[in-house]
Amino acid sequence: MYDVIIIGAGPGGYIAAERAGARKKSVLLIEKEHLGGTCLNVGCIPTKTLLNSAKLYRHALEGSSFGVNAEGASFSLAQAMKWKGEVIEKLRGGIEFQMKKFKVEVVTGEAEFVDANTVRLKADPSKTYQGANIIIATGSSPAIPPIPGAKDPAVRDSTGMLSIDFIPKHLIVIGGGVIGMEFASLFATLGSKVSVVEMMDEIIPFMDRQLAPQLRRAIKGIEYYLGAKVEKLEGASVFFSKDGKQEKLEGDCVLMAVGRRPNLEGLGLEKIGIDMSRKGINVDERMRTNLPNVYAIGDITGKSLLAHSASRMAEVAVDAICGGTDRMRYEAVPWVVYTNPEASGCGITEDDAKKRGLNYKTASLPLRANGRFLAENGVTAPGVCKVLVDADTDVILGVHLIGGANSEMIYGVAAFIEDEMRAKDVRQLVFPHPSVSEIIRDTLWELA
Ligand code: NAI
Repeated sequence: MYDVIIIGAGPGGYIAAERAGARKKSVLLIEKEHLGGTCLNVGCIPTKTLLNSAKLYRHALEGSSFGVNAEGASFSLAQAMKWKGEVIEKLRGGIEFQMKKFKVEVVTGEAEFVDANTVRLKADPSKTYQGANIIIATGSSPAIPPIPGAKDPAVRDSTGMLSIDFIPKHLIVIGGGVIGMEFASLFATLGSKVSVVEMMDEIIPFMDRQLAPQLRRAIKGIEYYLGAKVEKLEGASVFFSKDGKQEKLEGDCVLMAVGRRPNLEGLGLEKIGIDMSRKGINVDERMRTNLPNVYAIGDITGKSLLAHSASRMAEVAVDAICGGTDRMRYEAVPWVVYTNPEASGCGITEDDAKKRGLNYKTASLPLRANGRFLAENGVTAPGVCKVLVDADTDVILGVHLIGGANSEMIYGVAAFIEDEMRAKDVRQLVFPHPSVSEIIRDTLWELA
């Protein structure tokens, strides 16, 4: 009998294994494919690796105003893909090392429940394992909508895009969410014509409504069809209706990115009577399901489909197993869209504040007002910092950024929000100069 069995080795599962191992629990980690899950193998890491290659290429093409002439710069998709593969291999090796370090037993195979304390491997049901506690961390998969032609080989999901061996002449992206926009930005940077077809009237559903159009304008080389309902696909041709008119786009590659669904099937969850809906397994703030020894973390809960949320949920679940009182809080989870330029945010948006009836104040500054940003990006580079502060208490409610590599500084905002810091408190902190992060402090000074 293991202390903890974990099903799924993504950033939820492997972090749970590490943390439980560190607390001297006997741990079994079962994974049907590769260590690292979607994030490492077909998600966060490979997309960011390719986006960085594309960004370097763009810098080479556009460096002359900064004094760098790289005549004849070209992009090799094959080499970028090779480097992506090497990065994945290296990081998988890192997880393997961590599993050994924390004495985690790793089994390759697809697990299913026999009862609430027992799992077995589907391919070899004689292999059964018992756990005092079981953590379900099986993640999510791309959703395929019931649109005629959606399963045509010319239509790829994000996984398919990551093994593409050509740069599309015209890429049509269905869905202007995070996945859609990151790939749209990648291929637009590489010179593809890119069209984004989005059902809603704006991209990135959770983003500040004032900033989303600014992000659209900031990413170069993409045309948008907003409020567009895709009706059918024929190969790489997309038929949609917009403002009551029928329209057609002809491309040579289509990316379907209309959301992800939790991987609930095939686990025998009905058999053990777990409480769940189509959105995911229901959990409380300590990641407990309705079964006393079964926990669920990450995308499978449908709560926050982000790798960093999954890892934090893993820590909360392990703490609960160890008898602790840690709890998952979602208010201060930062998000990032790794387009070129990036967008990120933490806390609530202005619309959220209105809905909650809060008395708030906001301020915005262009990133060009920041010395480091201007020096490194030029006078026409787009970027903005918007802050939202409670007008009664001075507590920071949200910070939203577009421009540069803001993914590296949004964690600071998470600390402000988690700690319920006031604008006054942050104005009294010293930020390094010159650094782009100063824009947050300067924008808060606009409210002083
Ligand atoms: P999403 O939910 O972010 O966006 C899907 C978009 O597709 C929405 O804007 C929706 O209105 C639109 N849509 C839905 N049906 C449509 C249709 N029939 N025609 C046109 N548009 C349609 O989902 P996405 O981008 O697939 O990402 C899945 C999850 O993965 C997200 O929850 C996201 O947070 C996570 N993710 C996070 C990343 C990050 O943190 N940087 C990177 C990639 C994914």
